[in-house]
Amino acid sequence: MASSTFNKIFMAILTATLIALLAGFVSKKLVHPNFPAERAYKVEVQETETAAAAPAAPAEPDPVTPLLAAADPAAGQKLVKACAACHSFEKGGANKVGPNLWGIVGNKHAHAEGFAYSDAMKAQEGPWDYEHLNKFLANPKATIPGTKMNFAGLKKVEDRAALIAYLRTLSDSPVALP
Ligand code: HEC
Repeated sequence: MASSTFNKIFMAILTATLIALLAGFVSKKLVHPNFPAERAYKVEVQETETAAAAPAAPAEPDPVTPLLAAADPAAGQKLVKACAACHSFEKGGANKVGPNLWGIVGNKHAHAEGFAYSDAMKAQEGPWDYEHLNKFLANPKATIPGTKMNFAGLKKVEDRAALIAYLRTLSDSPVALP
């Protein structure tokens, strides 16, 4: 092989290698292969409540006493439809799932004769005053743990005021308004 031919081939390979190296170098400089640190598409994962996150203690319900004088017993009479599946309200009415509620305001807890109250209700001391009725009707199970009354509670203080104002009228001698 003539040395000039060999030189030509050698130079050609060398040039090709140089071009290839240079092209790689230049393209890296131009394209900036910097990958973003964060993923472009985030997969949202619903965070499940852990057992450690205990439910907050139930807040004290708003007091009903300041609202009672102005509360409308007629509005309360409509609200007792929510109770009527379990309670009767007229004098001498029968006990149903729950006891008859005639004369409940100011009466003792577990007041109805012949009704099978829970031990929790029987253990309550003192009368059904306005604020204890208010707390019980806002959240029966939290106010008297162990009660048999399966009722979620009335969330609005205005509703509880109207309902208690109506309950107060169910008596031969209603207790004084606060
Ligand atoms: C699903 C049935 C049910 C509903 C609805 C219900 N109650 Fe009761 N209620 C009961 C039972 C049962 C008891 C007895 C609880 C016990 O012994 O622990 C009770 C007890 C009571 C007491 C105590 C009575 C006493 O003699 O000490 C009051 C007051 C009362 N309910 C008011 C209401 C009012 C007002 C409503 C409507 C806003 C209502 N309840 C809705 C079942 C019910």
